Amino acid sequence: MSEAGSTQRHPMTGNEMSPEAAGGMERHSFDVVVIGAGGSGLRAAIAAHEAGAKVAIVCKSLLGKAHTVMAEGGIAASMGNVYPEDNWEVHFRDTMRGGKMLNNWRMAQLHAQEAPERVLELEDWGALFDRTEDGLISQRDFGGHKYARLAHVGDRTGLEMIRTLQQRAVALGIEVFMECTVTELLKDGEAVSGAFGYWRETGRFVVFEAPSVVLATGGIGKSFKVTSNSWEYTGDGHALALRAGAALINMEFVQFHPTGMVWPPSVKGLLVTESVRGDGGILKNSEGKRFMFDYIPEFFKAETADTVEEADRWYDDKKNNRRPPELLPRDEVARAINSEIKAGRGTPHGGVYLDIASRRSPEFIRRRLPSMYHQFKELADVDITAEPMEIGPTCHYVMGGVEVDPDTELAGVPGLYAVGECSGGMHGSNRLGGNSLSDLLVFGRRAGEAAAAYADTLGAQRPRIAESSVAEAQSSALAPFAVEGGENPYTIQSDLQQSMNDLVGIIRTAAELEQSLQAIAALKERATTMVVEGHRQYNPGWHLALDLRNMLLVSEAIAKAALAREESRGGHTRDDFPATDPTWGTKNLVVTLSADGAGVDLHEKPLPVMPDELKKYFDAPPAASADKEAGK
Ligand code: FUM
Repeated sequence: MSEAGSTQRHPMTGNEMSPEAAGGMERHSFDVVVIGAGGSGLRAAIAAHEAGAKVAIVCKSLLGKAHTVMAEGGIAASMGNVYPEDNWEVHFRDTMRGGKMLNNWRMAQLHAQEAPERVLELEDWGALFDRTEDGLISQRDFGGHKYARLAHVGDRTGLEMIRTLQQRAVALGIEVFMECTVTELLKDGEAVSGAFGYWRETGRFVVFEAPSVVLATGGIGKSFKVTSNSWEYTGDGHALALRAGAALINMEFVQFHPTGMVWPPSVKGLLVTESVRGDGGILKNSEGKRFMFDYIPEFFKAETADTVEEADRWYDDKKNNRRPPELLPRDEVARAINSEIKAGRGTPHGGVYLDIASRRSPEFIRRRLPSMYHQFKELADVDITAEPMEIGPTCHYVMGGVEVDPDTELAGVPGLYAVGECSGGMHGSNRLGGNSLSDLLVFGRRAGEAAAAYADTLGAQRPRIAESSVAEAQSSALAPFAVEGGENPYTIQSDLQQSMNDLVGIIRTAAELEQSLQAIAALKERATTMVVEGHRQYNPGWHLALDLRNMLLVSEAIAKAALAREESRGGHTRDDFPATDPTWGTKNLVVTLSADGAGVDLHEKPLPVMPDELKKYFDAPPAASADKEAGK
């Protein structure tokens, strides 16, 4: 594994010299460079290595710290361990319905078909899943999934997945460059030729020569004030792809997970896993009412219990009863919670109650939800086996991302691939819980194989790195040091987060979205005179200044797309257009970099047409709006 800045020795003194002092920039050459070490990055790197490529992983934080660990509840895969009648077709149908039919059908199909094999493979590599009484991998319930299908390890599934993949990547000898941030992709003509970045510790620059680059950088949540996302989630892959000439789709769809902590303020937004509801937890308002029955949308009426009695019977007899409304897809539940709070029926700290204490034994809760038990005990002094939790929506996931070929994850630029949360299409307008971990595995593997195959076809005819583009990347990275008397990047970041939270949140209006675009334009202007103090050696202010360029670009993409989509669907709710409009159900909004490189342009593109053999799984097209009712 590599650490900050490999060194050379001075020919006369024998002292160590940095590569820059030695007259050049640190350089490495690979067939495939994967940016990001979460589930999709690790899986892509493993696949590329197994296909014979020389592979590197470059990641912003330490190996093992990727945000994937925060996907707690499980990996969705129709293994049929709990319900033998489960199969890929049902999973495919659930995923498409959860995304309100805006998903790329081919991605949803491949995902549903290949997820079980990817879970079993993870087990072969050492992942220790919880078991059923028959000794099979245990599968739990989650919102929007017809059957219990989340393979899990307590409520720490993401952590176990990262542990397993990381161990395998290290055992295979894949080189890892950690605490190293990529700021630019390098190109030779149309094709990718490598990546430029800096070591976070020393501030020194590094160039990776590679004909294939896989973006696996995760999401954009740090642009919002209340988020479950970790510090790395600054939209780097989204912005790198835009600047390299790729397009983004579905950027208006941001998922607010219904249950984040609301108290204490230092942990506001921290994820409270959906497993709490999957395992029997219910939502109540300050009047003690189990309010989700008031928010069952037309679209899901047939499969959702509309009385407390039927909902409760479901836990004992899942075949003959409809599902509790707490297990509706996340967009529906988050909007309902938002409405209760707005109507003045919230808790003292501005959330609603999530109660599992009155429904399950303390032993059950501690066994199935160990992390939640400790999280609330240690951070909020709440014993979830005895008291309800206070929770509220938190920005959790962006459905939008780099537009890719569904089979290879090629991002429309030769040599550039994108996987996981920074890619778009798979989840349409709303992701079902648990579908992200399976997405990372399925498409990580596909991208790694395709990236290795492409590098192989080039032979010695690889795209070259022009020294001028390295010099350009370097001066752009150093630009914040040249400014005098400007603003601190932390102020700009905080204003961006507040503005995105207030104006581009769960419920949106044209007036607020226009206001947000003005705010982003003003923040971009302020960012041109952002001042960075000190030196390049570990300098978090400088790192943030560089991240902010990505955050501002991606925030603009979200706000612009949200303003253009005049309907409500999935993770995009317009108060001024509350209905789901079928004409919007046939197209994506595509975001590209504007000609001057300073902002983004938007255009519409028809959705790929689903073949008839898959259409048969949907008896009726999405009805006129679910969201209209849920928004009350
Ligand atoms: O609620 C959760 O455990 C999160 C899972 C996911 O986002 O897939």
